[in-house]
Amino acid sequence: AAPADLAGLHAVVTAGPTREPLDPVRFLTNRSSGKQGYAVAEALAARGARVTLISGPTQLATPRGVTRIDVESAEQMLGLSLAAAAEAQIFVGAAAVADYRASEVAGEKIKKTGESLTLVLSKNPDILATVRAAQPGLFMVGFAAETEKLAEHARGKLSNKKLNLIAANWVGNGKAFDTEDNALQLYWPEGEQEIPAASKAEVARQLVDRIVSLYQAR
Ligand code: PMT
Repeated sequence: AAPADLAGLHAVVTAGPTREPLDPVRFLTNRSSGKQGYAVAEALAARGARVTLISGPTQLATPRGVTRIDVESAEQMLGLSLAAAAEAQIFVGAAAVADYRASEVAGEKIKKTGESLTLVLSKNPDILATVRAAQPGLFMVGFAAETEKLAEHARGKLSNKKLNLIAANWVGNGKAFDTEDNALQLYWPEGEQEIPAASKAEVARQLVDRIVSLYQAR
């Protein structure tokens, strides 16, 4: 069995996509299945942590020993993340949060009238940056989903969002989103580590090993 070296600690994990409503029957979303975030929640629980999983809509069963809270939009995920983070020591943002939402959600179903339809979108709040501002002492882990310049973009997110660790994955062309396997490149202020392609469960165990060692050394 894994060592219970996170016993007594509360970890919050976000996972899955968000849904940003357009009208009563339509929404904007992305290809996240939630598998990687759920695997991280399960790996943290296996190390003895109390785990709260804040999940967008997925088809997955709740991992053993994990408390799950379901949300739809980025704004809902933010509100519940802030509340859970207030009594946590570790926060892992694995959710694929929509960067934009509809500026106005139509009250009635949008009618098929013109030959084209223009959607006006507004930027969503950044969950990791907002949680960090509220909880300066929290150990925070982000993900970075990139189609180019993986190291540069991941290191930028690590520093802009004031994270302790970031897990970067290549996405697009059938990679990472809604797959069984993944590979991660980890970056933290003083180092980096490659986690080679393996099941999302195995990748999550190795990510949690790094979280434990950085958390204990902080
Ligand atoms: O769910 P799966 O099918 O298993 O796929 C896994 C995954 C590819 C979704 C996952 O491994 C992953 O990369 N998750 C993060 C996806 C993402 O939105 O990355 P990003 O580079 O756009 O965002 C960077 C970080 O900021 C992420 O930790 C994200 O949760 C966070 N973020 C983004 C936008 C926002 N408004 N608030 C945020 O907190």
